[in-house]
Parts: sequence; C-alpha cells; structure tokens
Amino acid sequence: MLSALMNLLTACWRPSSDRYIHAGSDPVGRQDGLLWYKDTGQHLTGEFSMAVVQANNLLEDQSQIESGPLSSLESGPYGAFVGVYDGHGGPETSRYINDHLFHHLKRFASEQQSMSADVIRKAYQATEEGFFSLVTKQWPKKPQIAAVGSCCLVGVICGETLYVANVGDSRAVLGRLVKATGEVLAIQLSAEHNASIESVRQELFSLHPDDSQIVVLKHNVWRIKGLIQVSRSIGDVYLKKAEFNREPLYAKFRLREPFRRPILSAEPSVSVHPLQPHDQFVIFASDGLWEHLSNQEAVSIVQNHPRNGSARRLVKAALQEAAKKREMRYSDLKKIDRGVRRHFHDDITVIVLFLDSNLVSKASSIRGPTLSLRGGGINVPSNSLAPCATPMELSAS
Ligand SMILES: *[C@@H]1O[C@H](CO)[C@@H](O)[C@H](O)[C@H]1NC(C)=O
Ligand SMILES: *[C@@H]1O[C@H](CO)[C@@H](O)[C@H](O)[C@H]1NC(C)=O
Repeated sequence: MLSALMNLLTACWRPSSDRYIHAGSDPVGRQDGLLWYKDTGQHLTGEFSMAVVQANNLLEDQSQIESGPLSSLESGPYGAFVGVYDGHGGPETSRYINDHLFHHLKRFASEQQSMSADVIRKAYQATEEGFFSLVTKQWPKKPQIAAVGSCCLVGVICGETLYVANVGDSRAVLGRLVKATGEVLAIQLSAEHNASIESVRQELFSLHPDDSQIVVLKHNVWRIKGLIQVSRSIGDVYLKKAEFNREPLYAKFRLREPFRRPILSAEPSVSVHPLQPHDQFVIFASDGLWEHLSNQEAVSIVQNHPRNGSARRLVKAALQEAAKKREMRYSDLKKIDRGVRRHFHDDITVIVLFLDSNLVSKASSIRGPTLSLRGGGINVPSNSLAPCATPMELSAS
C-alpha cells in the first residue's frame, strides 16, 4: 500500500511526458498498443472500470472520472463525476472540455452550495463560451479550429441522485435488476442529438422554419447543412457564429448563405434520476461503442462477467463486432495502426460505474480521499500533468 501511494504521488506531479514510466502501475491505468485501460478502481459510491481504444491518428475521445468534492466547500456536495467527450474534426475541443468543464461545475456548485441540473447547464455554457474565446484568439493563425467540436456526456452521482447531461450522441445506459425475473434491463438515460433520429430532424425544421435545407440526406446519411450528423455540440463555432464561417476556413466548411441564428446548439439535455436499490451500474460510452453494440447487449456483457475489466470487455466485444462486419479476424484488426484503424471503427471510450447501494445512501456526506483519472491514449496534451489517481482500497467495503 505504501509503495503504491509513493508511485502515485510521483505520478501525480510529473509532467505527462514521464507518464509511460508509470504506465505499468495500476493507479494511472495501463497502455497496451492503442488500448488504454483501468480495469478496476473505487469511486465514492462503488467500483468503476474504464477503457479507451484509439482509432483516429490523434485520439479525439477524451474522458475523466472524478470522485470526492464536487465544490470547493468543506460542507460539500461530495460525489462522483464522469465525463465522456467525443471530438470531431480534431482533438482540440474534447481536450478543452476535459481541462475545463469539471472546474466550472465545481465553481457553480460552490456558488449554489449544492448540485443541480442548473449547475450542470451553467458548466456546459461556461465551457462553450471558454472554447469560443480560444477560437477567437487562435483564429488568425489556426482558422480550422473553428470547425472542431465535441459531443459531451456527463454523469454526476450526488446523494441518491444521478444527473445525466448530454449534447451529441454519446450514451449513458443503466443496468437495472428486475427482482421477479433476475434479469438486468438496459435503460437509456441520455437523450441523443443525432440527425438520424426523426425527432431531432423535426426539432431542426421547427427551429429553422425558413431553411428547408437545414438537414439533408447525403450519401444515405442525414447531415445538418450537409456537414455534420449531430445537432448539438460544444465547439463547431463555424456553425454557431457567422463571422467564423468565412475565409480562411476551408471552402468545404463554408456555407453559401450567411446565417443569422446559430445552426447548432450547446444546450445539454439534462435528466435527473433518483437511484434505486436495484440499480446495478451505469455504462457511459462514446458513439464508437454503440455503433457495434446495442444497449441490452452491453448491459448483459457487464452483468454476466466479473466487474474487474468490464470496460475493456465491452471495448473488445465492439472490436470483435467491427472485425466481423469486415469479415476479418479480431487478431488482424488489432494489428492495424491508428489512422488507418478509423476505417474500421471510431475511437471508443467506456466507463462503467457500479452502484453500491450502501455507499450511494451515504455519498453526499462522505469526505473520503479523492480520485481524479483521465482516459489515456497516446496523445495527451503536452502541457498537462499526468493523470492523477488515488486508489480508495482503504475505504472499500
Ligand atoms: C449518428 O447515427 C448514425 C446512424 O445511426 C451513425 O452511423 C453515426 O455513427 C451516429 N453518430 C455520428 C456522430 O455520426
Ligand atoms: C483484475 O484483473 C486483472 C487481469 O485479469 C488482474 O491482474 C487483477 O489483479 C485483477 N484485479 C483485482 C482487484 O481483482
């Protein structure tokens, strides 16, 4: 235990370039080629399992789990926070969210001295505005940053309440035990904003009554303005502010007509769920997983195997499915390098939070040690510290 603690302290305070020295020690997870995983750890209300597989040349998925104080106040709230950020067009927005959203959340929770849907909404808005400022600053030298965005899925467990917020098409799915049959049912907790969904297209047409071309079917895929599949995101400034939809942005991103109203929104769909004793776990994952596994398939895989390594098992099941669709062997798929891999599957991030009902009922007042862990990958921003995790084995029941 002492040596684990020492490893951890050194891991926490070293710049990220040193992290692979520690990659073999479990507190910060392990790297195996394009796969990063943390098979098991403790958060405030139970165990968790986390895994990320990279497909893009630069990892566009980012993720984090935080456990402990959800504000800067001694009096709380305390709880667990999960974020899955699925970037598109580049990694800049998802990295920005990973660096800022949780801090905004803590700031608003401190102001309001509690956790709420409003705190989460404000944290999204502050993150979106912060990224706008970054784009404004970088635009003269790096105009393409205006065409980078990210989906953003957040889960917060505080007291006996689970908050789920989402923009884009990542997904949170609850596994709930049905006592009578012993089955575990999959219940999707997050709303999605993918133009492939009829209601999302209807919302777009009602918000843009003067634009019959707001969403179009292009090569058999529904795309907003023929460009993007999600109607809500963080970033994608080129579809929110007309002043960034012009040269020197690449021609393929520029709209012919100037627009007066933002085309995409960053307003999260937030839902609030009182946790029940038979709620077993929640799977948070980027679209890369759900492209290959149904909600119920994923829940059954978690339910029917040991908790240890659950997230990695889900990633593997999705990769096996991706290989099958291309009539190739999983072992051959695994040999394909990043970049080229994107032709077979997307970046995939999975975080499974297990819910221990004993701990859930105490969660808002527990002041245990804190945990702060980021989903790994090959491309961590060079100016950030290494992932920092405090195992909570001592407080595990
Ligand atoms: C949106 O839905 C389509 C069709 O179901 C799917 O192929 C795609 O991966 C989804 N997400 C995004 C970001 O395109
Ligand atoms: C989890 O599984 C891994 C590999 O299967 C094993 O090395 C590790 O000791 C297990 N951890 C726990 C806490 O059981």
